[in-house]
Amino acid sequence: MLEIDILAVIPGLLDSPFSHSMLKRAADQGLLTVRVIDLREYGAGKYKQIDDYAFGGGAGMVLMPQPLADAIRELSRERSYDEIIYLTPDGETLNQSIANQLSLKSRLLLICGHYKGIDERIRTKFVTREISIGDYVLSGGELAAAVLVDAIGRLIPGVLNDETSALTDSFQDQLLAPPVYTRPAEWEGEKVPDILLSGHQAKIDDWRHEQAIARTRARRPDLMNDEGL
Ligand code: 6GU
Repeated sequence: MLEIDILAVIPGLLDSPFSHSMLKRAADQGLLTVRVIDLREYGAGKYKQIDDYAFGGGAGMVLMPQPLADAIRELSRERSYDEIIYLTPDGETLNQSIANQLSLKSRLLLICGHYKGIDERIRTKFVTREISIGDYVLSGGELAAAVLVDAIGRLIPGVLNDETSALTDSFQDQLLAPPVYTRPAEWEGEKVPDILLSGHQAKIDDWRHEQAIARTRARRPDLMNDEGL
């Protein structure tokens, strides 16, 4: 059972991702709960202000420390988080190993930044881990949080069935996945490799492994070790 809270500036961006497919099934099975909290509820004054100009000047607003601290403290009173994760382009780049680690936790708080980011003092005082989903800049952390929750959620034991098993994913063994085919066995003159129709499971497994290695060497040599495996 994994409980994920997401502190968002634009909570509406997270309305849809968790209501479909794998993540919905995980929620329906009681294996995953996702709550989205609107940071503005903790804003200051009549206009519920959450951001302000950056000291030292420069374009772009910064999320103020007090609304974030109030939200984190109130949520932490209800749930003791295993990790408080800030989604930020200068975080550690998300990979399958991080997703595997986080899928074993019980309670996570994800903080979505916006504009020029959040006041540095929140990062040092509360945040236990900082994650980026890749080397490009999004306008906010919400879509990155959705990506992270999807990557984690499908790894929770019981969420996927045999047919959708995570064990054969690309990256689960440092290799890209092999090519896959379905019916018809011949389509527009192109045939499915004979081996896959042979019924010889051990040979099929060997073929898939060879294909995975060849594909990884061609497309992502950075994933291979020194022996080329
Ligand atoms: Cl986590 N946030 C934003 N704003 N941009 C990103 C990102 C996160 N990861 C990659 N780009």
